[in-house]
Amino acid sequence: MKIAVIGSGYVGLVSAACFAEIGHEVISVDNDHAKVNALRNGEVPIHEQFLPELLAKHRGKGLKFSTSVGDATAWADAVFITVGTPQSATGEADLSYVEAVAHEIATAIHGSKLVVEKSTVPVRTCEAIRKVLQLCGAPADLFSVASNPEFLREGSAVLDFLHPDRIVIGVDTEFSRGLMEQIYWPLTSGEYYKRSDALGAGPRFSECAPLIVTSPKSAELIKHASNAFLAMKISFINAVANIAESVGADIDEIRAGIGADSRIGNRFLNAGVGYGGSCFPKDVQAFHAVAQECGYRFGLLNEVIEINAEQRRRFILKVRSAVWTLRGKTLAVLGAAFKGGTDDIRESPAIAIVDELLAQGSSVRLFDPAALPKAKAVLGDSVQYASDAYDAATGTDALLILTEWPEFAQLDLERLRKAMKFPIIVDGRNLYRPSFMAKAGFAYHSIGRPE
Ligand code: UGA
Repeated sequence: MKIAVIGSGYVGLVSAACFAEIGHEVISVDNDHAKVNALRNGEVPIHEQFLPELLAKHRGKGLKFSTSVGDATAWADAVFITVGTPQSATGEADLSYVEAVAHEIATAIHGSKLVVEKSTVPVRTCEAIRKVLQLCGAPADLFSVASNPEFLREGSAVLDFLHPDRIVIGVDTEFSRGLMEQIYWPLTSGEYYKRSDALGAGPRFSECAPLIVTSPKSAELIKHASNAFLAMKISFINAVANIAESVGADIDEIRAGIGADSRIGNRFLNAGVGYGGSCFPKDVQAFHAVAQECGYRFGLLNEVIEINAEQRRRFILKVRSAVWTLRGKTLAVLGAAFKGGTDDIRESPAIAIVDELLAQGSSVRLFDPAALPKAKAVLGDSVQYASDAYDAATGTDALLILTEWPEFAQLDLERLRKAMKFPIIVDGRNLYRPSFMAKAGFAYHSIGRPE
């Protein structure tokens, strides 16, 4: 199959590389000429496990790069839209990039074409794309529009694509169903997993990827509802952690107890400084706006958002009570990314917390294994940048852990303690056991656990 992927951001680039990996011919399109040239020259613009390997394997063969939506559309059987849908001032998703791309696609539809929305969009966007294509002169009998939401996590997006829990296709014609089934056949039939060069193949993965076929509207709602549900799980456990904290109970024990119920499950129940990233904050707001537009008051989502914001405020108070006053203190901060395994700092709780600490008069020595260049771009000279965790800790009044990088859970505690002025750790990600840290000589404060 010939596939055009419009938008070479994180979802578009991963999807394009993975479509090539499962055997399709792919053109990845972006209107940023510099980015397209960089991709052609072998540069990898995002930090994502296995992406460099896939791009190196398929670049110039099954995967090409272009700046022309028209040429790619004219060539392709299926055109995937993966451009950004940022949050607008009202909380709704801003669909202007999707609309602009639809205009360009329309002018290049001369033969039969499947247009697929993969960007996260509000329900009924498929309908809107169809209308725009028609308005711009694409003959209605030549194209179908389908929805194919993505469930890729940053940091593990390639494996999430190739070994998905499920693939959702929202289709309303036999033509679009047939094409979408063909596109994902290497995964749904299990053929890909039998290949000797299959990425991540092994017994821990299922034999074939489950396919869920729905209407386009249901597929659109599945995406928003999934992200909102996951965000709700995080806010829920954070709220319970706050109660646990006030009575001296332990959120780890509570998580184990409730997570053992298979109807609940223990994933996405880690208490901490709250969720961030380019998806959950934006999607919960957008889903709330969708509900409002449908005449439904989805107050639960407001609570999810409020608990998340409260979590950051409570963390600042925790630091303050650990060091007494913030003005004039030097604090080591481990973590700038919104979660471990990525260099992405968008809506990162760590950045918001650093901003607030600075506003309250503290100095910050910051370290992150991948996100320092991006942190520097927003924090500038307001903080000092450290070369590793021990350098960050040197001479500080306390150390704060704000991102769940695995290496932050394996620090040489003796070395850390010797580097610091005072052995105080405030852990916003619960990476250590409190009893272990007490033995290691630290005053250790975490989320929802007795001190
Ligand atoms: C999320 C979803 O997990 C993906 O399924 C979805 O495709 C993606 O959004 C998207 O819509 O594109 P992502 O934003 O990469 O993926 O990050 P997550 O791994 O979901 O983490 C989100 C935030 O929640 C992070 O700040 C993380 O630290 C936090 N989190 C996660 C917790 O605080 N506790 C947890 O138990 C899990």
